[in-house]
Amino acid sequence: MKTILVTGGAGFIGSNFVRYVLERSGFKGLIVNLDKLTYAGNPENLADIGRKYKDRYVFVKGDICDFALLGRLFKKHKFDAVAHFAAESHVDRSIFGPRDFVETNIHGTFALLESARSAWAGHGTGASAGQGTGASAGRRDVRFHHVSTDEVYGSLGATGKFKETTPYDPRSPYSASKAASDHLVRAYHHTYGLPVTISNCSNNYGPWHFPEKLIPLVILNAMEGKPLPVYGDGRNVRDWLYVEDHCAAVWRILLKGRPGETYNVGGDCEMKNIDVVKNVCAALEELLPSPENPALKGKNYEDLITFVKDRPGHDRRYAIDFSKLKRELGWRPSADFTGGILRTVRWYLDNPGWVKNVKTGAYRKWLDKNYRRSRA
Ligand code: NAD
Ligand code: TYD
Repeated sequence: MKTILVTGGAGFIGSNFVRYVLERSGFKGLIVNLDKLTYAGNPENLADIGRKYKDRYVFVKGDICDFALLGRLFKKHKFDAVAHFAAESHVDRSIFGPRDFVETNIHGTFALLESARSAWAGHGTGASAGQGTGASAGRRDVRFHHVSTDEVYGSLGATGKFKETTPYDPRSPYSASKAASDHLVRAYHHTYGLPVTISNCSNNYGPWHFPEKLIPLVILNAMEGKPLPVYGDGRNVRDWLYVEDHCAAVWRILLKGRPGETYNVGGDCEMKNIDVVKNVCAALEELLPSPENPALKGKNYEDLITFVKDRPGHDRRYAIDFSKLKRELGWRPSADFTGGILRTVRWYLDNPGWVKNVKTGAYRKWLDKNYRRSRA
């Protein structure tokens, strides 16, 4: 594998993945990172990587829905693999504005699949607006990996875990759009023989996480002495995975996964939301004790916990059975939650510049100045 197209590589997991592949995997080739730089995309996440790997890392600002751009990129770089992370990813946003989710997650995945199929079948510049050639994929030495979520399986009761064979039952516009994209990816394998793999992963946490999701939001609010909003009764359960473990899983699947297969990825770490928030508070008490934080005004971090109105259609419990990935590819999570949260909280404390830029929106101005749409 010489050249990989990573989509959404300026986001949380994508940027951790680019960093993981270039720094830790032994990969010697080129990564092209295609990202639209929505509110969640921040190339500052990879500023050091851009400087360090000038010859092996290319950033392209662009939309995965743009067939013409994709065609040019496939033609120019002759990708051997696609690692597809780009998505609208926040459930709450999908409830208030589902349109972008349908556009990027469904149409964008379709555009990528068509472009890969066309380029890898030897049809040169890529498909135009979905008018495919009907031909099956020619190259067998290529791989299209689609990064998806456990949320496609719906919500669990008190027991049981999602397996790869669990029927899809998405309940939010986000999970429905991801489910649709998964179906398209599978269809391209069955219909055209495109060598695809899919991973369905549980909730990630770690550095460079945009502070709209539970863990980074709680860390930053707590540091500033603001309320820590817990939806409903706080007893919804998620299975948490340290982001670097997810990156290692995706890399392993990209290299060794069987074409056409789906792999569940999880942290073996089921937690109620209220306990997640209390863990973050405990990590902060250790690293920045509340009596030493003037923003706390004499309170401790847990005093900030505030139960708020529940999310509409809030899935109760997710839990992942990742035994297939363990059995076939020898992957397992390495981080324990307490240690992972401590590392994560330390990262936010150690990176006040990043935090300030994201919180004030200053990174958007920096983006507008530094990144115009690239011509591939
Ligand atoms: P994120 O929101 O942090 O990043 C998404 C990135 O995609 C951003 O950089 C954004 O600019 C880019 N993007 C959005 N629309 C685009 C478009 N039309 N064209 C090009 N780029 C576009 O998301 P994340 O948390 O890093 O999630 C990455 C992937 O992992 C998603 O596919 C998500 O569904 C999946 N996933 C996330 C989690 C999680 O806990 N965050 C868990 C399982 C699966
Ligand atoms: P989130 O990080 O948005 O991820 P997802 O919805 O994809 O699981 O939310 C994780 C859990 O935390 C979820 O059960 C909703 C809950 N939550 C809160 O209680 N308060 C918050 O402010 C947020 C953003 C989420």
